[in-house]
Amino acid sequence: MTTLLAVVPTFIARLWTEPLAQYAPWLKVVIHGQDDYKPEEIDYALGFRPPPGLFKTLPNVKVIFSLGAGVDGFLSDKDFPKQIPLVRFVDHTLSREMMQYVVLHTLMFHRTQRQFDRAQAQKQWAQMFPPRRTEDTRVGILGLGEIGTMAGEYLARLDFPVSGWSRTKKSVPDIKSFAGDGELEAFLGQSDILVCLLPLTPATYHILNKKTFAQLPKGAYVINAARGGHLVEDDLIAAIDSGHLAGATLDVFETEPLPATSPIWTHPKITMTPHVAAMTDPRVASRTVADAIAGHMKGAKLDNVVDFELGY
Ligand code: NAP
Ligand code: GLV
Repeated sequence: MTTLLAVVPTFIARLWTEPLAQYAPWLKVVIHGQDDYKPEEIDYALGFRPPPGLFKTLPNVKVIFSLGAGVDGFLSDKDFPKQIPLVRFVDHTLSREMMQYVVLHTLMFHRTQRQFDRAQAQKQWAQMFPPRRTEDTRVGILGLGEIGTMAGEYLARLDFPVSGWSRTKKSVPDIKSFAGDGELEAFLGQSDILVCLLPLTPATYHILNKKTFAQLPKGAYVINAARGGHLVEDDLIAAIDSGHLAGATLDVFETEPLPATSPIWTHPKITMTPHVAAMTDPRVASRTVADAIAGHMKGAKLDNVVDFELGY
């Protein structure tokens, strides 16, 4: 019998066990923290933010599946068994939700919607916040991978001038490509809206900092939908309060849930959401994992395997 360990919150375990039973009836699924199991019986595992040290206790695990696109929650485990392939979740529905989040918050800023919300609350007929020309609102996307590329393509369709920054040079229609540390400053200098969609790695940790913000045009807006560890929160608040940045939208935070003491909760120029830009759909992910396990058992090559050297 092939056994899968699911490291998911026990109160929503059913959301995973039901579709897994449908798509892989030949698979025994055990829930970490709920079902008894012997470490040596586990062949495959899935999870999102697993307890550190857990995977090194599984001597026969063959593949570990991340239920998120980001795998920083696995790689922060110093005991993660790097000889075992780690597969990250790449899916059209997840990328599409992220794209929608980026388009929504780009338009909210571009169309000055928050100013209209405030005017409405005061019953003001405020025909005074004209959007700037779309052609003059340059969107720069940090991370031109699965999600960054889809977001960039949709923004380009809305006529925004779009550029992307990645480790390696890209050739995507209507998206200007900047690559590597040497081109970061030039990229930032032409980004009126800066969107972060990078993986969190040692190379990208705290990449959104006071130096980065100083290199953005005055009045720029920041959207971080990647990971809280990308952002130095105090530097962002200082850059907004000094008037250099116009504001920010944040979905992710260095500490989650965001502590009640954080000034971000009440900052008038920050829009925040509680790490919901995109949610993995258990039905979709269960099918993906079931297919990948079936393929792996037949000797097929795994897709979306994390490069441990690069950290994504
Ligand atoms: P991906 O396909 O792996 O793309 C990552 C991109 O970042 C690639 O273009 C890569 O460059 C670039 N990159 C990585 N390290 C870099 C560096 N040091 N310098 C320059 N560019 C670098 O990842 P994805 O699927 O688009 O996901 C991106 C992130 O979104 C995830 O890691 C996760 O943290 C976040 N996310 C958040 C939510 C949410 O709900 N808030 C949901 C899903 C995902 P190359 O192409 O040259 O390799
Ligand atoms: C969510 O944050 C993900 O990485 O998919």
